[in-house]
Amino acid sequence: MQNLIAIVLAAGRGTRMLSARPKVLHKLLDEPLLSYPLRALAELGIKQQLVVVSGDQDGDLVAGSMAAFPGLEWPRQIQARGTADAVAAALKNLDGVSGSALILCGDVPLLSSTTLELFYQKHCQSRSQMTILTAVLDDAGSYGRIVLDDDGLPEEIVEAKDASPEQLLINRINSGTYLVDLDLLRRALADTDCDNAQGEYYLTDMVAFARRQGAPTAIFDISDSRETLGINTREDLVDLEKIMAAGICRNWLLNGVTIRFPETVRIGPCVTLGHDSEIEPGVSISGQTEIGVGCLVGSGTQIKNSKISDQVEIKPYSILEDVVVEEESQIGPFARLRPGTEIGAGAKIGNFVETKKARFGKGAKASHLAYIGDAEVGEHSNLGAGTITCNYDGFNKFKTEIGRRVFVGSDSQLVAPVKLGDDVLVGAGSTVTRDVSDNALVTTRTRQKEFAGRGMAWRRLSLEDK
Ligand code: UD1
Ligand code: MG
Repeated sequence: MQNLIAIVLAAGRGTRMLSARPKVLHKLLDEPLLSYPLRALAELGIKQQLVVVSGDQDGDLVAGSMAAFPGLEWPRQIQARGTADAVAAALKNLDGVSGSALILCGDVPLLSSTTLELFYQKHCQSRSQMTILTAVLDDAGSYGRIVLDDDGLPEEIVEAKDASPEQLLINRINSGTYLVDLDLLRRALADTDCDNAQGEYYLTDMVAFARRQGAPTAIFDISDSRETLGINTREDLVDLEKIMAAGICRNWLLNGVTIRFPETVRIGPCVTLGHDSEIEPGVSISGQTEIGVGCLVGSGTQIKNSKISDQVEIKPYSILEDVVVEEESQIGPFARLRPGTEIGAGAKIGNFVETKKARFGKGAKASHLAYIGDAEVGEHSNLGAGTITCNYDGFNKFKTEIGRRVFVGSDSQLVAPVKLGDDVLVGAGSTVTRDVSDNALVTTRTRQKEFAGRGMAWRRLSLEDK
């Protein structure tokens, strides 16, 4: 793909979304819409890639949200005056550059790099100066229609809003993806006007221009027309998300992962799953998440940007984000592992346990009802039900360090900063405010008092009061 540059159009107002957020930042399987075409381009390895964004804060927001794609250029379109005007904004960065441009729409997320590669081959073989990626749909909806001549070559693209009733019957549509010679593109853009139903500068007018100039044009019909689906409304967004999620689940089912009731499961495009892992209904796994071999992810669990090693069991309704879980650990049900949590091998985090920036050593346990934040928990330590690390004094956060083989009795508070040595035993109901040395037993609760025979007397007194 030498002498090929890529231009992605992402400066449109996205009016039909009725949203304050730029359209290309709306999420599909938890990834911004724009990241999909950018990933396909990254796979193709095209050196110079330009993404046209708007000249206002929305443009800053879009460019700033794509840190995962370094090395891109971000030309600005000052006013959203149409797709031709957006490409013209990109061409300002390309003075003196020759070769071809691959033009994509930022709102068409299913196009794969494999399809783009075939499209490029067809463009080269046909010696065309402008090739349009097209699809044949049962319902051509609001897409631009491709008008062919008697030889089956494209003569023009007519937008649905400008089409005659006969043209609306055409079911071959424009995907908004083109390969075009840069010199021809420059000349075509200089020739466009906004004399159409939407009062916009249409990029699609370049096809009729090419024909008038006698430049060879071609089409490439995609084999799976779903790849050309674009997102213009929220209904499009959720319909496409469903198609995408089903495709990803099918792929994992073919690659050794059991997904039960897959229509209820959402797995992101950057997630990897090890074989013999099992995913129960209602699970969502997103971001850069890796799940190892032989894991179980229970119903209703959500996992984002996390690394889960082999043979880990995550019981239902747990939430994990930015965490690392080593092999053979057990998490949940109803556990919440917040960013910065690291769970060592064979550890156990049980129901209603919340962790944040906490590192649990091998075999450590917090089996029920606990908050462990800004903490280190040594190997094989066991935190009883109701253990709380008091890490915040209202102004600053402090750390709790717990040694190895420590046992913390139920309902204890560890007031940070505080350190417990190895083999410490904390009696139930203690509030530990000072460091504890190795092998000590510590209790802080008040001694129990017993008043013999006073039970009934107290009850009588209370009844008399009423
Ligand atoms: C466009 C095509 C249509 C095609 C469809 C495929 C035109 C005139 N029409 O229509 O033939 O079937 O895509 O999905 O090109 N954009 C800008 N600046 C603008 C306007 C748009 O950057 O001033 C960007 C948008 O952010 C979007 C893309 O261009 O990513 C397409 O714009 P959109 O308004 O969605 O065009 P469609 O109506 O979908
Ligand atoms: Mg569109």
